[in-house]
Amino acid sequence: MASKKVQADRDEFKRYKEDVKKEGKPFFPYAIFHDTVMSLVVVGVTIGLAVIWKFTVEDGEPGALGPLYEKEADPATTNFIPRPDWFFYFLFYLLRIFKWPETVILGTVGIPTLLLILLIMLPFYDRRPERVILRRPVAFVAAILVVLSMGVLTWKGATAKEGSEAVAEVPTWAKEQGFADNPVAVEGATLFAESGCLNCHVYLGAGGQNLGAPELTEEGLKNRGIEWQVAHLKNPSSKVPGSPMPPFADLGDENLTKIATFLEASKGPKE
Ligand code: HEC
Repeated sequence: MASKKVQADRDEFKRYKEDVKKEGKPFFPYAIFHDTVMSLVVVGVTIGLAVIWKFTVEDGEPGALGPLYEKEADPATTNFIPRPDWFFYFLFYLLRIFKWPETVILGTVGIPTLLLILLIMLPFYDRRPERVILRRPVAFVAAILVVLSMGVLTWKGATAKEGSEAVAEVPTWAKEQGFADNPVAVEGATLFAESGCLNCHVYLGAGGQNLGAPELTEEGLKNRGIEWQVAHLKNPSSKVPGSPMPPFADLGDENLTKIATFLEASKGPKE
């Protein structure tokens, strides 16, 4: 003998089935027809926007929907600042916290995967029927912590200075290191800031240390000399066997001499 509740559910289901029989419409052709019309509308609007974009451009002036083409992509650029879209800033910033090579696996795979697994498993480990948020303290605190840390990481990622953004720091460097009166060193500092050196080296607090690269704030104190520096930049392993630093011969002798001049002029901040 079914309970009252089950009986009520069965009656309801029976009524529903009868309704469908009386008033329902078969999937084919009705639903198919709806979907087809809607798909055609979407495709039509897309084609329409493309036509407006293409044909409102006159003599290279941006049209109603923006310019036709922007500058061609240059795969050889060394001063591009790679930045993800804003909703990935928190992951992006994790990469700064976890350093290559010891812990980077935690930042790239470990933490995100762990959080995803926890989220997917949620229906299996939290099986209490309680829905009132204040009576679920663990879930409540966990959610607040996740949102808070993602917020902080997003903000830190958005404001972090990447490699070549350090160009703005060059005048400060010149003043602190006392090479402001040496235009070749200043040019070298700009090249240094633009060429991705700060992806591995720290200089006066800018950049991030990677692959065990030494801080270069006081490189000039080693008195390597311009010639040694240029040769090292052209082919690091010729001077430091097994060096993981990439060669920068592509910059050309003139630029490398400028960078070397800058490095040799970097003898630590003057008080
Ligand atoms: C991919 C990481 C990486 C990049 C990018 C990089 N370096 Fe290095 N650099 C290293 C490592 C690792 C070392 C230590 C091994 C060595 O000395 O070659 C190093 C060492 C150095 C040294 C110290 C040499 C010495 O012993 O006195 C200088 C100077 C230097 N790099 C300059 C530069 C400059 C300038 C750039 C940009 C044009 C640059 N590096 C880009 C990783 C890097």
